[in-house]
Amino acid sequence: MRIRILTLFPALMEHYFLEGIPRRAVEEGHLEIVVENIRDYSTNKHRKADDYPYAEGAGMVLLAQPLFDALRHDSGHVIHLSPRGHLLTQKKVQELAEHEEITLICSHYEGLDQRVIDKWVDEEISIGDYVLSGGELAALVLIDALMRCLPGVIAEESLEEESHVAGLLEYHHYTRPEEFEGMKVPEILLSGHHQHIRDYRLEEQVRLTLQRRPDMIAKGLQEGVYPEKVIKLIRKLSKEDIS
Ligand code: ADE
Repeated sequence: MRIRILTLFPALMEHYFLEGIPRRAVEEGHLEIVVENIRDYSTNKHRKADDYPYAEGAGMVLLAQPLFDALRHDSGHVIHLSPRGHLLTQKKVQELAEHEEITLICSHYEGLDQRVIDKWVDEEISIGDYVLSGGELAALVLIDALMRCLPGVIAEESLEEESHVAGLLEYHHYTRPEEFEGMKVPEILLSGHHQHIRDYRLEEQVRLTLQRRPDMIAKGLQEGVYPEKVIKLIRKLSKEDIS
């Protein structure tokens, strides 16, 4: 997958791909990242990329010209990160991971000239109901989530177990030592009894999701994503005091 990022802060974005999983994803060729400075497309002699909004309104708006020129060439699926966009979900991430090429526009200030959106943008995406000072962090969140869906980047088993994929939050994790500052790892995890461990973890997942994200359970039930044993656990645990 090729991801092109249009931003006013290219150094900030490039840095992210210098370490950890993002770096490996690029080095191993699963992901190609092209970071471009929106100012490089400005025809203004001062490389101006923004201006005051027409009529009233605070802040600055990204100019249409540099972005039109940046997007004129083949840009694949074009996304503007914006608090006005549709909320990002794991389902959306999986859909987007099917694209060969994506261009992300990171706007700042008050956003960008609407004509850019009307002409070039396929969709606007928000990463949550809060306002960031720019789209860069939102773009990195989206790229990180996308990258993990690309074949070869993350081990298949870890992807399957993960939160949100099966409509349940993940169970608790423990590692060595068995006892730390008087706190013990749940005995069942040391039992070596794989079926019991699976049952225990599934029950934990259902309990945690009922406590923290009852909206997710309601949606999962409505969409019919849960197998019968999860439905039984939901019924059983809903009757218990889970608070
Ligand atoms: N830009 C500013 N806030 C944002 C948000 N919540 N999601 C995506 N892009 C943004």
